[in-house]
Amino acid sequence: MKHERKKITVVGAGFVGSTCAHWAAAKELGDVMLLDVNEGAAQGKALDLYEASPVEGFDSKVKGTADPKDCANSDVVIITAGLPRKPGMSRDDLLATNAKIMKNVCEGVREYSPNAVVIVVSNPLDAMAFVAKETLGFPKERVIGMAGVLDSARFRAFVSEATGVSVKDIHAFVLGGHGDTMVPMPRHCSIGGVPLTEMLDSATIDAIVDRTRKGGAEIVGLLKTGSAYYAPSASAVQMAEAILKDQHRILPACAFLEGEYGVNGLFVGVPCRLGGNGLEKVIELELNDTEKAGLENSISAVKELVEALKTLDY
Ligand code: LAC
Repeated sequence: MKHERKKITVVGAGFVGSTCAHWAAAKELGDVMLLDVNEGAAQGKALDLYEASPVEGFDSKVKGTADPKDCANSDVVIITAGLPRKPGMSRDDLLATNAKIMKNVCEGVREYSPNAVVIVVSNPLDAMAFVAKETLGFPKERVIGMAGVLDSARFRAFVSEATGVSVKDIHAFVLGGHGDTMVPMPRHCSIGGVPLTEMLDSATIDAIVDRTRKGGAEIVGLLKTGSAYYAPSASAVQMAEAILKDQHRILPACAFLEGEYGVNGLFVGVPCRLGGNGLEKVIELELNDTEKAGLENSISAVKELVEALKTLDY
């Protein structure tokens, strides 16, 4: 009798990558490979995490490697490789360096895991998802960016703080690009089914929206030497779980749009249904004029970034 576990590869053994491996292993989503060009880092962190398994009682195998061949036939690949932001930098400042890294990583994924669903985490996210899809040549169902779950998690955490209600009962969407123009959606946020707009006054909601938009920078400002990793990695692993367990979950994610929301040929954050085949469906919400304007503004920012990308030789 042969049983095969799911195989998850996490590319990049930095803080985001190694914490992804941690969440994925602890949730027993499958066996985890941690891949990094810097051999010691991946192997050391993976071995350390594996040695935690008897204590925590998880049966996932965790291994580190610098060789993409060891990651062959992965079901899901989470790509976190790239430089993080430093204080004062925008996510866009990382464009040229991280595009090169993303292309290189995706060439390996294309060769060794041609059937994987790929979750892109590296910044600037919307542009890196574009580079990934272009390099992989995979259909849009199998290249998805992680940003909306993270941005919505921040929104939900702040709403929980303001209302005193459990984070479990707070649903929220943040749409658009993963940058300063992202569009938190108060009208689509509910607390145990009650719209947020009936629970909090507009000044409080505006403050939460603003803090959500700057959520990544708030952490960079505090850490000084890097960017957030607990919430980003938990978010990427929640997407991986939805795919590996064929959950058909509705989660905001960065998807390649072909006509939805009036966008063609760009990755933008939208509500998605994620299941065994990856992106199953883009959910089109009815937007009011303010939301439409916010989304259009965010889409222009993504477009500009992708235009800048096209001028680079990566
Ligand atoms: C953030 C970075 C990781 O939002 O984009 O924290």
